[in-house]
Amino acid sequence: MNVTPFWLAGRAATGDEELTVTHPYDGRVVGTVAVPTPQQVEEAIAKAHAVRRDAAALPVHVRAEALMHVSRRLEERAEEIAKLITAENGKPLMWARVEVKRAVSVFRFAAEETRRWNPTMQRLDTDQGGEGRLVYVSRVPKGPVLGISPFNFPLNLTAHKVAPAIAVGAPIVVKPAPATPLSALVLGEILAETDLPEGMFSVLPVPNERASDLVEDERLPIVSFTGSVPVGWSINERVPRKHVTLELGGNGAAVVLPDSDLDWAAQRIGLFSNYQAGQSCIAVQRVYVDRSVYEEFLPKLAEVVGGLVTGDPSDEKVQVGPLVSEDAARRVESWVDEAVAAGAKVVTGGAREGATYAPTVLSDVPADARVLREEVFGPVLAVQPVDGVDEAFALVNDSAFGLQAGVFTRSLDVAFRAQRELEVGGVIIGDVPSYRADQMPYGGVKDSGVGREGLRSAMDDYTEEKIMVLTGLPL
Ligand code: SIN
Repeated sequence: MNVTPFWLAGRAATGDEELTVTHPYDGRVVGTVAVPTPQQVEEAIAKAHAVRRDAAALPVHVRAEALMHVSRRLEERAEEIAKLITAENGKPLMWARVEVKRAVSVFRFAAEETRRWNPTMQRLDTDQGGEGRLVYVSRVPKGPVLGISPFNFPLNLTAHKVAPAIAVGAPIVVKPAPATPLSALVLGEILAETDLPEGMFSVLPVPNERASDLVEDERLPIVSFTGSVPVGWSINERVPRKHVTLELGGNGAAVVLPDSDLDWAAQRIGLFSNYQAGQSCIAVQRVYVDRSVYEEFLPKLAEVVGGLVTGDPSDEKVQVGPLVSEDAARRVESWVDEAVAAGAKVVTGGAREGATYAPTVLSDVPADARVLREEVFGPVLAVQPVDGVDEAFALVNDSAFGLQAGVFTRSLDVAFRAQRELEVGGVIIGDVPSYRADQMPYGGVKDSGVGREGLRSAMDDYTEEKIMVLTGLPL
């Protein structure tokens, strides 16, 4: 099998080690990837640092055209890349196709945002001392970005780091997840087709044990990390002087109120607790259903979840594939078994076969069970009746996490109350917490992280305001 090169300052390179990528469904080898040496990592950082001023000065049309090129090429190569995502990550082809489509949009959104990202002017003669003066305010990159992306959306969450960096004129060094580097490397290949200057991007599949070479390097003042809670917060503590954005975990909750469409709620919750085998930070994990409709809702939910098609993720009809590894599936199994031993009931599912865990609904889960309190990152849903909105919202907030929450209601009063009271980064009314439009701000509070993605939000995050005061003007 050919060795896939990595991308060092815009050029394909190989190191003196390799890493093997295997298919989570059947363990077959799907790729061999070159791993950069410490010297090559140093070279990538040095080149990102060296190009930072030229990068910031790139005309907007050059940045926008590079972004549009990536968007177009991802679209042209969509089917090939979707198959690659399925092979390295195990997510069903239907979801891999959605991921590629989203990445196509992410680069297009970034091109659009950079074109309308203008400096502002403000009169200063609102006060006597400012007579004849104006302030011109632009945003300038804080410096090269280190983007660390996770295995669960190996292309699109890499896109969310790379596209805003190019949009603001900041070089970026990407470290993809070691389990799923292939789609990020294709992104590198496409970026290499653009006219972006040398050093503007590198994609370095370094092992996690060597990530500190990147995290601690002062020439990469921004760290944008998506991944686990302990790793994310430890980065924040290790480099307190850097600007760190953390997109971490969640234990997404949905609230189902009696004024909602129960069939729609059951379909959406059933599907989005299990898409990508639950390996999304905003997968539905907890469901609080108003007691007046609980008995009606539960069988509908069980029917949707029980009817999901599982199996080989490359089969077009399969909705739920394996987890990223058998170890991950075993962990999910042990958490479910633990909850059942403590009194939870299995409504449907509750079985493992290799790396695949059956879509599962649990009821009567004890409040301290890990399937409620921690992030399962697997196809497991805990459902519970509640007495009205007060109790539902209190339970949603009774969590260390705060990424997104969904509230199935038709009441605008309840919607605004949810937006005010729920301790999360985003509230989705009439749908699951798993809804994410790539152009909107996305991120969490509490253990779920700090900072926001979404093109415009990330562009703000990667930059800071810089002013110039003009004096002696005939205003
Ligand atoms: C995540 O798992 O954090 C990202 C979810 C998404 O982009 O849909």
